[in-house]
Amino acid sequence: MINENEIYRAALIIKKGGLVAFPTETVYGLGADAFNPAAVARIFEVKKRPKFDPLIVHISRTEELDSVVQKPSGLINSLIDVFWPGPLTLVLPKKADLPDIVTSGLSSVGVRMPDHPVALKLIEMAETPIAAPSANPFGRISPTSAAHVKKYLGSSVDMIIDYGSCSVGVESTILSLVDEKRPVLLRPGGIPVEEIIRITGPVYPPDMMIADVLAPGMLPRHYSPRTPVRMLEDYFYKPNDSKKLKIGLLSLKKPMESSRYHAVEVLSESGDLAEAASNLFAALHRLDCAGLDIILAEHMPETGMGATIADRIRRAVHE
Ligand code: TXA
Ligand code: MG
Repeated sequence: MINENEIYRAALIIKKGGLVAFPTETVYGLGADAFNPAAVARIFEVKKRPKFDPLIVHISRTEELDSVVQKPSGLINSLIDVFWPGPLTLVLPKKADLPDIVTSGLSSVGVRMPDHPVALKLIEMAETPIAAPSANPFGRISPTSAAHVKKYLGSSVDMIIDYGSCSVGVESTILSLVDEKRPVLLRPGGIPVEEIIRITGPVYPPDMMIADVLAPGMLPRHYSPRTPVRMLEDYFYKPNDSKKLKIGLLSLKKPMESSRYHAVEVLSESGDLAEAASNLFAALHRLDCAGLDIILAEHMPETGMGATIADRIRRAVHE
């Protein structure tokens, strides 16, 4: 059951230009009124986020799209029909009225309708689209519980709405339709790309030469624990390593051999990739807090949600 009184208080905070951390189906977001530039500026301060990294705008009804983007076409409407509310962010040409700070000065904006009763109620009660990045300091692992947010941001936000853990557990898939004839996958995420292709036909990788798609969500090092992360298959054990080093393992299923590890996180006993994605960040948070010298990550199958898990692990490994 959602607590409408609590959400109403949160909505008042948003209306007054404050910051509210709130749950979505993907990860917890750090929200402000998208049309209040001073409030949005505080998001960047609290997260220590570079000003060139644009935010995602969250809406609760498709009619609200008109206030942030230019008229969507047929293909965009088909995507919205199939995937909203849900973990798909569409990057579309923005309306001039939307403050430039939200989009880091880009002429496009990322927008999505989250599939979460608290997020939808909050946007509805705040009576404004809510700009929200993930509620973590820049470059760190996204929060999938209110406890993660509290630990990261604590008193620097005006309110944290606790609604347990996030069911999808990884951030939204981001698809740019700035050029409708050339859909570009900016970030794999909560909806497998195979499902999107069924509606759009081929999608393209980002063209690094075009400024509009250069966004730090795509920086190789992102979503990182403090503890170094390496791919298990690239790691060569030296004699006595497991005595000298505290090694953690991130694996899909139960490993055959676990005695050399100080801590083991199994993402899904049955190897279910959606379940594994929903556990990924919480597992990384736990491993990061376990006082380890190194975290070894198993290679994930790159189909369906596996591609998203593999993407986040690659970014965590990168230094
Ligand atoms: O699931 C999610 O998407 C979560 C929840 C809270 O909705 N939000 C999220 O936001 O992951 P954030 O700020 O961590 O990631 C936003 C990323 C940016 O780093 C950038 O890569 C991309 O979205 N983005 C946003 N607007 C864009 C634009 N106009 N053009 C290109 N990329 C954009
Ligand atoms: Mg983020």
